[in-house]
Amino acid sequence: MASYDVIIIGAGPGGYVSAIRCAQLGLKTAIIEGRETLGGTCLNVGCIPSKALLHATHMLHEAEHNFAGMGLKGKSPSVDWNQMKSYKEDVVGQNTGGIEFLMKKNKIDWIKGWASIPAAGQVKVGDDTHEAKNIVIASGSVPSSLPGVEIDEKIVVTSTGALDLPKVPKKMVVIGAGVIGLELGSVYARLGSEVTVVEYLDAVCPGMDKDVQRGFKRILEKQGLNFIMGAAVQGVDATKTKAKVKYALKKTPDTEEVIDADVVLVATGRKAYADGLGLEALGVKLTERGQIATDSQWRTNVPGIYAIGDVIEGPMLAHKAEDEGMAVADVIGGKHGHVNYGVIPGVVYTTPEVATVGATEDALKAEGRKIKVGKFNFMANARAKAVHQAEGGFVKIITDKETDRVLGAAIIGPGAGDLIHEICVAMEFGASAEDIALTCHAHPTYSEAVREAALACGDGAIHS
Ligand code: NAI
Repeated sequence: MASYDVIIIGAGPGGYVSAIRCAQLGLKTAIIEGRETLGGTCLNVGCIPSKALLHATHMLHEAEHNFAGMGLKGKSPSVDWNQMKSYKEDVVGQNTGGIEFLMKKNKIDWIKGWASIPAAGQVKVGDDTHEAKNIVIASGSVPSSLPGVEIDEKIVVTSTGALDLPKVPKKMVVIGAGVIGLELGSVYARLGSEVTVVEYLDAVCPGMDKDVQRGFKRILEKQGLNFIMGAAVQGVDATKTKAKVKYALKKTPDTEEVIDADVVLVATGRKAYADGLGLEALGVKLTERGQIATDSQWRTNVPGIYAIGDVIEGPMLAHKAEDEGMAVADVIGGKHGHVNYGVIPGVVYTTPEVATVGATEDALKAEGRKIKVGKFNFMANARAKAVHQAEGGFVKIITDKETDRVLGAAIIGPGAGDLIHEICVAMEFGASAEDIALTCHAHPTYSEAVREAALACGDGAIHS
């Protein structure tokens, strides 16, 4: 048995970042993780492996579609799927190993195993009970399925199974046109699968800017993804080798439609995960959606127990969890911990990327807020044209009509996931579009499109 200032349960981006910040603040810290490697869903079976596959298949797409036009002649590469998976595993290993190094460097004890909380101030792992003045639950989330859909991670898979299929399927049906469905759908479409996305709503990426939803779907369709929109999946019948996905279109709800698949990816959202912690016996309050309820300082209703990341309310994003991890450490360390939930970017790592931050044009209009919208198409950005990523892309900045203060932005285009941060910083500083427009931007860069969109909020963009 050991005694700590803080024990963190779960070593995903929320938990491990929190542990490092606690250690930096001089708190004796342990982290508990039951997986063989650190890094949680994000590093092991989420963000990182999917980015490796997105990168590899983007390279394939470039070779197949753009090399010859750039004077790079010769046979396109063929896919060695097992080698691609080992490259992905190598990327994962480098990153999870890096977190292990950081734990050692910061003198954080990694207690291996699955934790439970017998009482406030105590954490049990196996037969050992450890003492902790503070406990931070960062136990994350797991995929949620649908009634009538049984996941076997072979034919009917979640993102975890989809990252490790034994072979590239001929036909893949993706249920849900959210981030996971579109990222992994893109991967398999580029690998040659016939991918059909079945989505309940009439637009992809629920809640996103409407222009982005429309433009993004068009781009993905051009890349070969098929969409069945306004379709509620009602069940999946699977054998050992194939599946039939049953759905009904909203306009004909009494007619059952069926689509065949070799693999079905269920990407209909994730749910908070806190199984086995003993929260009920402790009396930890949950929200209606089963997340751990916390106050603005990430305290649960039980003194000494905090919660952060996917297991609490808010967007299920690694960087939101990281921010909460740092902030809760600051709170425990006696400092001021703060997360600005109004400035959390969201990124879809397809090609081109999609990135958003802040309020959408529609939400602001619905509030009756007077706004200005500045939009600039990547078709007029020299750099984007040079890399075949100008078509259909744009930067859109939304500002307050009176003050010119930036309220939100949406980008489809090359490097969108990086470009968005210029706007995040502007928003954190309460900057106006004019502030961005008056900042010198290097030429030729994608970020010139951000400046042009900012100029479009004022007297007008130069290149349109
Ligand atoms: P999601 O919530 O983004 O999308 C789920 C989609 O499934 C929705 O469009 C919904 O309308 C649809 N759907 C639900 N039931 C359906 C039915 N019966 N028939 C047809 N369609 C149905 O969920 P997703 O993509 O599974 O992602 C889970 C979480 O992981 C999200 O919070 C996401 O933000 C996060 N994530 C973020 C990534 C990133 O930031 N790049 C990457 C991967 C995941």
